[in-house]
Amino acid sequence: MNAHGSFEGLERLPRDAINELPPQDAPAGLIAALDRKGWCVIRKAADSLPGFRQFVSSLHVPIAERYGDLPRSGAADVFRTTPYPPEEDLLFHNEASHTSKVPKYLFFYCHRAAETGGATPISDGVRALDLLDRTIADTLRRHGLTYRRRFVDGLDVAWQDYFDTDDPAEVERHCRRDGLVSSWTDDGVLQVDYSTLAIGCLPDGRQSMFHQVALHHPAFLADEIREYFSAYDPQGCTPRNVLLGDGTPLSDEWARDILAAQNRAGQYFVWERGDVLALDNRVYAHGRMRFSGSRENYVIMSALEAVKDVCSTGF
Ligand SMILES: [Fe+2]
Repeated sequence: MNAHGSFEGLERLPRDAINELPPQDAPAGLIAALDRKGWCVIRKAADSLPGFRQFVSSLHVPIAERYGDLPRSGAADVFRTTPYPPEEDLLFHNEASHTSKVPKYLFFYCHRAAETGGATPISDGVRALDLLDRTIADTLRRHGLTYRRRFVDGLDVAWQDYFDTDDPAEVERHCRRDGLVSSWTDDGVLQVDYSTLAIGCLPDGRQSMFHQVALHHPAFLADEIREYFSAYDPQGCTPRNVLLGDGTPLSDEWARDILAAQNRAGQYFVWERGDVLALDNRVYAHGRMRFSGSRENYVIMSALEAVKDVCSTGF
């Protein structure tokens, strides 16, 4: 359970506010509507996985064929949504914002709706930024964020599996290529840092939150899990963390304030089979509410691009 983080106070998107496009208008209008409004729902867009793929192909946007964070569905460019315990909320995140290559657009498809729960919350990053305390916003803007991963034996995945090599020199090369900073502690723990923006500048000049604080910050772990991780790590750290970009800690209080702003700028979408939800990943963060039943959702992403080209820091 996320002891300190959940989707509090979100409202359901009212049926008459759903930014719906009839399927026949989708190819022509969807991308323009996405760039204008940030999200669109297309009811009954597809009734199968191939149908979903065909629907997205008809939009003529380049599609991402590789993405390490999600399992494939069988088709090369259609992914299962994040495998995460159904009894827990998957908190807000902009897809891949903790990496150097990010997609502009996300297309989610509901093949089987959950029995209960399983809605997709979305949060407007421009509005969330407006709602955030000025000091926190200015600090995020100035410093960005550093996502830190520590490969402690027995916790999370082994570095050898993650980097697909047993050779530390190969890890070093990989990290240099992807803009990561790797180091080894005296205890033999590999630590990898990636520093990037927390607030992006959109093509129209607006600024928007763009991060995964709620997925990486230990403030959102249950107390017993946080304590277990900290006891296990020689330096008392968690396997994943997020710091301010100057290397100083992002406090629990600030992390919670950031999620609270996202919640205040959030709404949730309740799925029916066949729905496609298209999101502008630069503007809208997304998550997944806890559920019961055999929910089956898929995602196609537009091609991964360098983060500076998708969401520039040119304030
Ligand atoms: Fe996601």
